[in-house]
Amino acid sequence: MTRFTIHPIHTDFAAEIFDIDLSKKQSSADVNLIKEAFWKYAVLVFPDQKLSLDQHVDFATLFGPIEMNVNTYQEEVKKHRFDYRVSDISNLDEEDNILAENSRKRMSGLANRLWHTDSIFRHQPALASALYALTVVPIGGKTEFADTRAAWDALPDITKNKIDKLIVEHSIFHSRAKIGFTNFTEKEKAALPPSRQVLVRNIPESHRKALYIASHAMRIIGMSDLEGVALLDELMAHATQPQFIYSHRWRVGDLVIWDNRCTMHRGTDYDEKRFKRDMRRATVSDIGNTVELAY
Ligand SMILES: [Fe+2]
Repeated sequence: MTRFTIHPIHTDFAAEIFDIDLSKKQSSADVNLIKEAFWKYAVLVFPDQKLSLDQHVDFATLFGPIEMNVNTYQEEVKKHRFDYRVSDISNLDEEDNILAENSRKRMSGLANRLWHTDSIFRHQPALASALYALTVVPIGGKTEFADTRAAWDALPDITKNKIDKLIVEHSIFHSRAKIGFTNFTEKEKAALPPSRQVLVRNIPESHRKALYIASHAMRIIGMSDLEGVALLDELMAHATQPQFIYSHRWRVGDLVIWDNRCTMHRGTDYDEKRFKRDMRRATVSDIGNTVELAY
């Protein structure tokens, strides 16, 4: 019997779900209710969870196949803190010590302070990300989410008509360069070539449209670089206005899952040399490249 309760944070964006234990197998009726809430709210917060890595991955798998973790600092890592099914979102090395100032893993983490949606820079991007908090910091270190469906809805018709069919080129190295992180090997660059994605997505489950942008966006196909960057900057500024944002303050045991197709997110600043922050993320693959999708 379903006993969990759903508390919306905004009208139709971000909700907190209480009285559910995600370590247990959910009934198919409950899975359907969770999915319905997910399609509606796009960000779901499940507080007070105690999840093993397997249980965390099992929950994420309800939404689709898991994307294998590939980091841009891969070659420096001697030993992974977790396995390939999850991403290590921490400021810790393999012995759980705070990362050195010049660590490439640290630099890569800093790029998460820019607004983005996960894996848009891959040919097949990510549908959902499920981030689980193991150790949190006492101040700062929040994750902010932007509802890019509401941002789309609020655009004037003239802009909607102008941008609806545009295609954008994304690269993870573009966003990394914005924070001065440029020392990648040719092998690393070759492993993640630029991707092309639509600028406006149709979300079939909610029948809504969403802006699909990120700091990884380099240029708009068919536009001059100057014009394309100006339009991307304008859309980014529009989509990240306060009325579209939910800011999540983490507690140990929070599992937050978000829909990468219709939200952006970013981490906020914290004293990373003083406090340990340990999170792991299971990422669910989208069904294909957005330019190749039929909708
Ligand atoms: Fe992210």
